[in-house]
Amino acid sequence: MCRNFDQTPVEKEKLARLVHAAGRAPQGGNMPVREYIVVDDPRYMRLLRGVTPSFLANAPAALVICTDLPKALEVMGKQGRDILSLLDAGAAAENVALQAEELGVGVSFVRSATESAVKRALDIPERFRVDIIIGVGYKSRNRPAPMKGQRPVVHHNSYGGERYGSS
Ligand SMILES: Cc1cc2nc3c(=O)[nH]c(=O)nc-3n(C[C@H](O)[C@H](O)[C@H](O)COP(=O)(O)O)c2cc1C
Repeated sequence: MCRNFDQTPVEKEKLARLVHAAGRAPQGGNMPVREYIVVDDPRYMRLLRGVTPSFLANAPAALVICTDLPKALEVMGKQGRDILSLLDAGAAAENVALQAEELGVGVSFVRSATESAVKRALDIPERFRVDIIIGVGYKSRNRPAPMKGQRPVVHHNSYGGERYGSS
Protein backbone atom coordinates (compact mmCIF):
# COMPACT_ATOMS: atom_id res chain seq x y z
CA MET A 1 0.00 0.00 0.00
CA CYS A 2 1.17 3.52 -0.72
CA ARG A 3 0.77 5.85 2.24
CA ASN A 4 2.09 9.09 0.80
CA PHE A 5 1.13 10.48 -2.58
CA ASP A 6 2.14 13.35 -4.85
CA GLN A 7 -0.64 15.81 -5.40
CA THR A 8 -0.40 15.44 -9.19
CA PRO A 9 -3.93 14.62 -10.41
CA VAL A 10 -4.43 11.14 -11.84
CA GLU A 11 -5.48 11.23 -15.49
CA LYS A 12 -9.11 10.31 -16.17
CA GLU A 13 -7.97 7.64 -18.63
CA LYS A 14 -5.96 5.93 -15.90
CA LEU A 15 -8.90 6.06 -13.49
CA ALA A 16 -11.05 4.53 -16.21
CA ARG A 17 -8.48 1.75 -16.69
CA LEU A 18 -8.68 1.01 -12.96
CA VAL A 19 -12.46 0.75 -13.09
CA HIS A 20 -12.16 -1.53 -16.09
CA ALA A 21 -9.71 -3.75 -14.18
CA ALA A 22 -12.11 -3.91 -11.23
CA GLY A 23 -14.91 -4.97 -13.54
CA ARG A 24 -12.79 -7.80 -14.94
CA ALA A 25 -12.46 -9.47 -11.53
CA PRO A 26 -14.31 -12.75 -11.00
CA GLN A 27 -17.68 -12.53 -9.23
CA GLY A 28 -19.20 -15.33 -7.20
CA GLY A 29 -22.67 -15.04 -8.64
CA ASN A 30 -21.43 -13.63 -11.94
CA MET A 31 -24.08 -10.94 -11.58
CA PRO A 32 -23.48 -7.20 -11.75
CA VAL A 33 -24.29 -6.16 -8.19
CA ARG A 34 -21.25 -3.93 -7.77
CA GLU A 35 -21.04 -0.23 -8.59
CA TYR A 36 -18.14 2.21 -8.43
CA ILE A 37 -17.70 5.85 -7.58
CA VAL A 38 -14.64 7.53 -9.03
CA VAL A 39 -13.78 10.53 -6.91
CA ASP A 40 -11.28 13.05 -8.25
CA ASP A 41 -12.83 16.40 -7.38
CA PRO A 42 -10.73 17.86 -4.54
CA ARG A 43 -13.90 18.99 -2.75
CA TYR A 44 -15.29 15.47 -2.62
CA MET A 45 -11.87 14.09 -1.71
CA ARG A 46 -11.79 16.50 1.24
CA LEU A 47 -15.22 15.30 2.34
CA LEU A 48 -14.17 11.68 1.97
CA ARG A 49 -10.93 12.17 3.89
CA GLY A 50 -12.89 13.88 6.65
CA VAL A 51 -14.99 10.78 7.27
CA THR A 52 -12.31 8.11 6.97
CA PRO A 53 -10.15 8.37 10.08
CA SER A 54 -7.79 5.70 8.83
CA PHE A 55 -7.54 7.27 5.40
CA LEU A 56 -3.90 7.72 6.27
CA ALA A 57 -2.76 8.59 2.83
CA ASN A 58 -3.26 11.90 1.08
CA ALA A 59 -4.45 10.39 -2.18
CA PRO A 60 -5.74 12.91 -4.74
CA ALA A 61 -8.35 10.45 -6.04
CA ALA A 62 -10.29 7.44 -4.86
CA LEU A 63 -12.30 4.57 -6.22
CA VAL A 64 -15.15 3.47 -3.99
CA ILE A 65 -16.51 -0.04 -4.49
CA CYS A 66 -20.10 -0.57 -3.40
CA THR A 67 -22.56 -3.45 -3.49
CA ASP A 68 -26.25 -3.04 -4.18
CA LEU A 69 -27.49 -5.16 -1.25
CA PRO A 70 -31.14 -5.79 -2.25
CA LYS A 71 -29.99 -6.71 -5.76
CA ALA A 72 -27.30 -9.03 -4.36
CA LEU A 73 -29.91 -10.72 -2.14
CA GLU A 74 -32.25 -11.11 -5.08
CA VAL A 75 -29.73 -12.67 -7.45
CA MET A 76 -27.41 -14.55 -5.06
CA GLY A 77 -29.33 -15.10 -1.83
CA LYS A 78 -28.23 -14.22 1.68
CA GLN A 79 -24.81 -15.85 1.46
CA GLY A 80 -24.20 -14.09 -1.82
CA ARG A 81 -25.13 -10.74 -0.35
CA ASP A 82 -23.19 -11.14 2.87
CA ILE A 83 -20.12 -13.12 1.82
CA LEU A 84 -19.67 -13.60 -1.93
CA SER A 85 -20.13 -9.95 -2.77
CA LEU A 86 -17.51 -8.95 -0.18
CA LEU A 87 -15.04 -11.48 -1.56
CA ASP A 88 -15.84 -10.16 -5.02
CA ALA A 89 -15.09 -6.63 -3.91
CA GLY A 90 -11.74 -7.80 -2.53
CA ALA A 91 -10.89 -9.47 -5.82
CA ALA A 92 -11.85 -6.29 -7.67
CA ALA A 93 -9.73 -4.19 -5.31
CA GLU A 94 -6.70 -6.39 -5.91
CA ASN A 95 -7.22 -6.12 -9.67
CA VAL A 96 -7.20 -2.34 -9.21
CA ALA A 97 -3.98 -2.54 -7.20
CA LEU A 98 -2.26 -4.65 -9.86
CA GLN A 99 -3.47 -2.46 -12.72
CA ALA A 100 -2.36 0.63 -10.80
CA GLU A 101 1.20 -0.71 -10.58
CA GLU A 102 1.21 -1.22 -14.33
CA LEU A 103 0.00 2.35 -14.84
CA GLY A 104 2.65 3.74 -12.53
CA VAL A 105 0.26 4.84 -9.78
CA GLY A 106 -0.14 3.65 -6.20
CA VAL A 107 -3.15 2.67 -4.13
CA SER A 108 -4.14 2.54 -0.49
CA PHE A 109 -7.01 0.37 0.71
CA VAL A 110 -9.32 1.77 3.35
CA ARG A 111 -12.05 -0.22 4.96
CA SER A 112 -12.41 1.30 8.40
CA ALA A 113 -14.62 4.27 7.76
CA THR A 114 -17.94 5.41 9.11
CA GLU A 115 -20.11 4.01 6.37
CA SER A 116 -23.08 6.29 6.91
CA ALA A 117 -20.80 9.32 6.73
CA VAL A 118 -19.12 8.06 3.53
CA LYS A 119 -22.56 7.60 2.01
CA ARG A 120 -23.62 11.08 3.03
CA ALA A 121 -20.41 12.62 1.72
CA LEU A 122 -20.77 11.00 -1.71
CA ASP A 123 -24.60 10.85 -1.93
CA ILE A 124 -24.58 7.06 -2.07
CA PRO A 125 -28.12 5.62 -1.79
CA GLU A 126 -28.97 3.72 1.37
CA ARG A 127 -29.31 0.34 -0.36
CA PHE A 128 -25.56 0.17 -1.06
CA ARG A 129 -22.85 -1.24 1.19
CA VAL A 130 -19.52 0.56 0.92
CA ASP A 131 -17.13 -2.38 0.54
CA ILE A 132 -13.80 -0.64 0.18
CA ILE A 133 -12.35 2.76 -0.58
CA ILE A 134 -9.18 2.73 -2.67
CA GLY A 135 -7.05 5.85 -2.55
CA VAL A 136 -5.28 6.40 -5.87
CA GLY A 137 -2.39 8.66 -6.81
CA TYR A 138 1.19 8.99 -7.92
CA LYS A 139 3.51 7.68 -5.24
CA SER A 140 5.53 10.28 -3.39
CA ARG A 141 9.28 9.75 -3.23
CA ASN A 142 9.00 10.29 0.51
CA ARG A 143 6.73 7.39 1.27
CA PRO A 144 7.18 4.88 4.05
CA ALA A 145 8.31 1.40 3.10
CA PRO A 146 5.56 -1.24 2.80
CA MET A 147 4.75 -2.82 6.15
CA LYS A 148 4.35 -6.46 5.27
CA GLY A 149 7.11 -9.03 5.20
CA GLN A 150 5.96 -11.80 7.53
CA ARG A 151 6.19 -15.31 6.12
CA PRO A 152 2.77 -16.86 5.51
CA VAL A 153 1.87 -19.97 7.54
CA VAL A 154 1.31 -22.73 4.95
CA HIS A 155 0.53 -26.40 5.68
CA HIS A 156 1.30 -29.16 3.20
CA ASN A 157 -1.68 -31.31 2.13
CA SER A 158 -3.45 -31.19 5.51
CA TYR A 159 -3.55 -28.78 8.41
CA GLY A 160 -0.70 -29.45 10.82
CA GLY A 161 1.39 -31.29 8.25
CA GLU A 162 4.93 -30.22 7.64
CA ARG A 163 5.39 -26.58 6.87
CA TYR A 164 5.13 -26.19 3.12
CA GLY A 165 8.37 -25.00 1.66
CA SER A 166 10.36 -25.55 4.87
CA SER A 167 13.48 -27.67 4.58
C1 LIG B 1 -9.66 -5.29 2.99
C2 LIG B 1 -8.58 -4.33 3.42
C3 LIG B 1 -8.92 -3.22 4.18
C4 LIG B 1 -7.95 -2.31 4.60
N1 LIG B 1 -8.32 -1.22 5.32
C5 LIG B 1 -7.38 -0.35 5.75
C6 LIG B 1 -7.77 0.78 6.51
O1 LIG B 1 -8.93 1.00 6.80
N2 LIG B 1 -6.81 1.63 6.90
C7 LIG B 1 -5.50 1.44 6.58
O2 LIG B 1 -4.68 2.25 6.97
N3 LIG B 1 -5.11 0.36 5.85
C8 LIG B 1 -6.01 -0.53 5.43
N4 LIG B 1 -5.65 -1.61 4.66
C9 LIG B 1 -4.23 -1.75 4.28
C10 LIG B 1 -3.52 -2.79 5.11
O3 LIG B 1 -3.47 -2.38 6.44
C11 LIG B 1 -2.13 -2.98 4.50
O4 LIG B 1 -2.25 -3.68 3.32
C12 LIG B 1 -1.20 -3.70 5.45
O5 LIG B 1 -0.97 -2.91 6.55
C13 LIG B 1 0.12 -4.04 4.76
O6 LIG B 1 0.75 -2.86 4.42
P1 LIG B 1 1.65 -2.77 3.12
O7 LIG B 1 0.76 -3.09 1.96
O8 LIG B 1 2.13 -1.35 3.13
O9 LIG B 1 2.75 -3.75 3.28
C14 LIG B 1 -6.60 -2.53 4.25
C15 LIG B 1 -6.25 -3.65 3.47
C16 LIG B 1 -7.24 -4.53 3.06
C17 LIG B 1 -6.84 -5.72 2.22
